[in-house]
Amino acid sequence: MRVQVAIIGSGPSGLLLGQLLQLAGIDNIILEQRSRDYVLGRIRAGVLEEGAVELLDRAKVGGRLHREGLIHTGFDISFAGARHRIDLAGLTGGKKVVIYGQTEITRDMMDAREASGARTVYEALDVEIMDFDSSQPRVRYRKDSVEHEITCDFIAGCDGFHGVCRESVPKNAITNYEKVYPFGWIGLLSETPPVSEELIYVSHERGFGLCSMRSPTRSRTYLQCSLSDSVEQWSDDKFWDELKVRLGPETAANLITGPSIEKSIAPLRSFVAEPMRFGTLLLAGDASHIVPPTGAKGLNLAASDIHYLSTALIDYYNSGKSTELDQYSERALKRIWKAERFSWWMTTLLHRLPENGEIGARLQNAELEYLFTSRAAQTSLAENYVGLPY
Ligand code: FAD
Ligand code: PHB
Repeated sequence: MRVQVAIIGSGPSGLLLGQLLQLAGIDNIILEQRSRDYVLGRIRAGVLEEGAVELLDRAKVGGRLHREGLIHTGFDISFAGARHRIDLAGLTGGKKVVIYGQTEITRDMMDAREASGARTVYEALDVEIMDFDSSQPRVRYRKDSVEHEITCDFIAGCDGFHGVCRESVPKNAITNYEKVYPFGWIGLLSETPPVSEELIYVSHERGFGLCSMRSPTRSRTYLQCSLSDSVEQWSDDKFWDELKVRLGPETAANLITGPSIEKSIAPLRSFVAEPMRFGTLLLAGDASHIVPPTGAKGLNLAASDIHYLSTALIDYYNSGKSTELDQYSERALKRIWKAERFSWWMTTLLHRLPENGEIGARLQNAELEYLFTSRAAQTSLAENYVGLPY
């Protein structure tokens, strides 16, 4: 089989790229190692920047997002028994974010892809990418015990942090930058109304907390936990009790608790692999970078990568010139490093890091006090949170 672009991975990056290429008449296939239901069952991001929403509109998959997404113009930081609002819209000339689950975006893009007739192979096993240092790269995979081979012009590595594409690049051609944080997040999804209309980020001496949501009746809540914790050690009761302590009595009084629908632990990591292009292999999204989720940037960075990559590929097929493709890595990485910095900053601001000692805690307290009293500091936070320009 021959296609113009072979996309590895049907997460947000792969699906969005596939949809934009399809609309531009560029022949593509998506190979995904998991089943459709497995991909849809993963509970992940929830906050979309305006740039990501615009891109989803351009991809003609924004309909339900505009009907069901919740527009948020600010969020709270809870610290030392008080809540402080960050007025995103007021600080950024009216910019806002949209709360709409990654699961829903994935479903919308999968539906659009199926309707367009574009090909997706789920449960494509042992994907191997070859010859991407040439103009005739190849991809091999196995489906239902049958081996397949695809030749193409480009391979898009949209296969996430644990994927095969980045791993296939010769070690001397790629540089990895990595920081692993000494804690994780346990997340709990529940069919309970959110404790507040907007998100609450909690900085408490017992650790970080986050009250997010998926809808007016569904909450997504996170707690900082130890890397050695297992989900089994966190009964629903223990989770809610700990959240109440971190929230403080006033906010906890409004908390409605309920059984978990899903519970999982995620490690926190900052990671960038440079560059993002290796001949005819182009990496995008989590395949090339990871941020800790504190700044809500992972999905949004996947979207901005796909903006740069899709316009570069469309320009290549329209004009025959590779100028934009040649600039892809540099353009995307400029925005990625800024989001990496912001996510690292927001993580170190709000999480307790015992290894930094008492002076670390005091400096953190001073930084929070400064933030709550300085419009300049809040503006910097707000303009990064709503998303820097593409
Ligand atoms: P992925 O979603 O990882 O998709 C990669 C796909 O490739 C997967 O479907 C995988 O099965 C497939 N794959 C992997 N290996 C292979 C292979 N060998 N062959 C074929 N297919 C393969 N981001 C935000 O912007 N806002 C948030 O609020 C936010 N919250 C988060 C909360 C949590 C708990 C977590 C874990 C993440 C959060 N993120 C958030 C990050 C966001 O979910 C990711 O950045 C996003 O999923 C990246 O999309 P992707 O398509 O690049 O990668
Ligand atoms: C989420 O709703 O899953 C979410 C929201 C904000 C974050 C991280 C995760 O910073």
